[in-house]
Amino acid sequence: MKPLLELRRVFFRYGKRSPYILSGVNLKIIRGKVYCIVGENGSGKTTLLHIMAGLLEPEKGEVLLDGKPLKEQLPRARRLIGILFQNPETMLFNPTVYDEIAYAPRQLFDEGETRKRVLESARLLGIEDLLERPTTSLSYGEKKVVALASIISYDPEIILLDEPLSNLHPERKRRVLNMIRSLAAKGKAVVITSPDLELLDNICDVTLTLSEGRLKEGG
Ligand SMILES: Nc1ncnc2c1ncn2[C@@H]1O[C@H](COP(=O)(O)OP(=O)(O)O)[C@@H](O)[C@H]1O
Ligand SMILES: [Mg+2]
Repeated sequence: MKPLLELRRVFFRYGKRSPYILSGVNLKIIRGKVYCIVGENGSGKTTLLHIMAGLLEPEKGEVLLDGKPLKEQLPRARRLIGILFQNPETMLFNPTVYDEIAYAPRQLFDEGETRKRVLESARLLGIEDLLERPTTSLSYGEKKVVALASIISYDPEIILLDEPLSNLHPERKRRVLNMIRSLAAKGKAVVITSPDLELLDNICDVTLTLSEGRLKEGG
């Protein structure tokens, strides 16, 4: 199958005098699979996801979306790629949870369709009871799940999740794991990072380890 997203010999560093964080990363992402990227703190997992989302540009190498350079198709890439940031606090900017989850669908659909999507995303993640809450009143774990719902609600094809399971209560963690599986079953490509393979609870179709700037198969 043709990769949806592909990295070819990607090199990246934060500034010309800094060490390379990524040094020759190759990766092919296809539909319907869950990719897990594990690595120690500071190994470059977040950097790698930001490259995949087009938020950072590699110094060398290519990032291809549907076989064409991602940076040449940015508006489309924003629609196709959803990213959950490691720190959910940086993602929430609307007054209520409902408005937060409705924000992206409102740019794309009418209010009726938006409402349907908000309610469905909230139902899948078990957060219907949070919809009228101010986002500032949420716990860390609640913020994480709300941020995830705000991505699911606009239906991207590639879903990048930066440590989605860290600091979640077991019940919320179970919901998120189920949601990831159902996204893959619908043909989405899901990429998850984690400091620890165990957290991922056997959800991975492909497990990769990021170490010394390179991706290796296996956990
Ligand atoms: N904006 C930045 N400027 C300079 N260095 C950074 C920046 N963001 C991350 N780094 C450094 O890059 C390395 C990889 O960080 P990161 O991608 O966050 O790794 P991980 O997500 O695996 O913990 C770390 O040494 C970190 O300090
Ligand atoms: Mg990180």
